[in-house]
Amino acid sequence: MKVIRTVADMGEEALAIIRSSKSYGFVPTMGALHEGHVSLIRRAANENDIVAVSIFVNPTQFNENDDFEKYPRNIEADLALAEEAGADIVFNPEPEDMFSDKRDTLVMPNKLTNHLCGLSRGKGHFIGVCTVVSKLFNIIRPEKAYFGQKDAQQALIIQRMVHDLNFPVKIEICPIIREDDGLALSSRNVRIPENMRHEALSLSRALTHGKALIEDGATNAPEVINAMCEKVIEAGDVEIDYIDIVSTETLEDVAEIDDLVLLAGAIKVGGVRLIDNMLAAPAGK
Ligand code: PAF
Repeated sequence: MKVIRTVADMGEEALAIIRSSKSYGFVPTMGALHEGHVSLIRRAANENDIVAVSIFVNPTQFNENDDFEKYPRNIEADLALAEEAGADIVFNPEPEDMFSDKRDTLVMPNKLTNHLCGLSRGKGHFIGVCTVVSKLFNIIRPEKAYFGQKDAQQALIIQRMVHDLNFPVKIEICPIIREDDGLALSSRNVRIPENMRHEALSLSRALTHGKALIEDGATNAPEVINAMCEKVIEAGDVEIDYIDIVSTETLEDVAEIDDLVLLAGAIKVGGVRLIDNMLAAPAGK
């Protein structure tokens, strides 16, 4: 596995791969790799001759400096995991190489940021994501890129961006990987205080409950949202950022559930922000 640390070197490598006509997949990450990332890299390795993984903690997508500083970093463990999962290249640039002081261009998604994390983290978060992902696509030049369904809003926004801006890359969305107790894997999980596991699990419990209600015939979205919020509140020391039921295409709030919907939530447990989501449809849909 090659580790490439500059934009210029990655550009040359990408050109050589494209000229070789080998199939070429890409998994963008911010490091602190876990089984969720491993599943993306494995899938990319199964479907492509060459797999590039980026490890770059993107400063432009954090609005709280604190969260950026605290984001877990462990490059040596990440390189070992990426190689074991089947990566051929890890691109691990320095922030100054990715973002010069003179930069003046941003990629701005629009309506899809008016909901869920766009409301709580601000539009700036997704501008940071779209800008860095565009740059990574242009530097790495993959045919396919793999994203996780856990960041459902990010996945939808990236799909929209690729379509709207005609990026020549196919986006593959891969399922959420969970621990045995249901906690969705996230790089932030290592920061959950040990004694707050029950609280952290309240979000997946709430989503599972909401999904079951919908599958059993509940159609009133505000009532299902209330029932999900209760599941979180009964866990105790948890701050709800949002719990919502939205359209899978527009992310707009749904009032009456008569088709496939996205149940999505974000909570804070012991100062750690966790997100999760599930799809649900009424029986027969
Ligand atoms: O999902 C992530 O880890 C990040 O948002 C991404 C896509 C790597 C962009 O920094």
